[in-house]
Amino acid sequence: MATSRQIFDLTILNHRHRDMRALRRTHGLPSHHGNKLWRSSVLLMDYLQEFPISQGARVLEVGCGWGLAGIYSAKVFDAQVTCSDLDASVLPFADHHAFINQVTITTLQKGYQKFTGADLAHFDVLMGGDICFWDEQASLVYNLVRRAQKNGVRTIIADPGRTPYAEMALRACDKLGAMCDPWFVPHPHNARGYILDVPAV
Ligand SMILES: C[S@@+](CC[C@H](N)C(=O)[O-])C[C@H]1O[C@@H](n2cnc3c(N)ncnc32)[C@H](O)[C@@H]1O
Repeated sequence: MATSRQIFDLTILNHRHRDMRALRRTHGLPSHHGNKLWRSSVLLMDYLQEFPISQGARVLEVGCGWGLAGIYSAKVFDAQVTCSDLDASVLPFADHHAFINQVTITTLQKGYQKFTGADLAHFDVLMGGDICFWDEQASLVYNLVRRAQKNGVRTIIADPGRTPYAEMALRACDKLGAMCDPWFVPHPHNARGYILDVPAV
């Protein structure tokens, strides 16, 4: 049975690949669901093909898990990518995927609510896939997006359409001039959900 797959230009190891098993043994199990590639990251990759970022853009991926949206940005747009997550145990999985896909990323353990306006001003694009799933995250993510916009950063967030995300996205459309569109990536990826794109000001 295959232990890796190709999604767009990336090689992605499956959960049972021996490298993934070795990383789990060394770093333990993720605490906040960062245990695999979530389909929202596939939505992000597909969306970036249609609405790209600039070559060499400075990208911050938050709630990165295995970091594949950021890694895709490094591979396709030669972006300078920082992949961050609250949960330190996911970062070696992101580093390993960057290695096998022959790109360089920086990893950082940090909750997204901790990024200040001054931190965000170092980036051009903020992105995240499936990072707004608990009720309390709706206002944390909205405030992050608002700080990003105030500091000249475009934000792109994908989600399957969970209630906290919908609440956050509606507020961003109402107050920040954001667009939120349904998005679908057909077979063989079969990813479906929404993309919120908040312009920089
Ligand atoms: C559902 S997973 C999605 C992972 C990845 N973005 C993807 O699409 O495959 C949610 C991720 O968000 C992270 N996370 C949850 N709350 C967070 C917070 N407050 N700050 C940063 N990361 C957070 C989790 O550790 C986990 O890696």
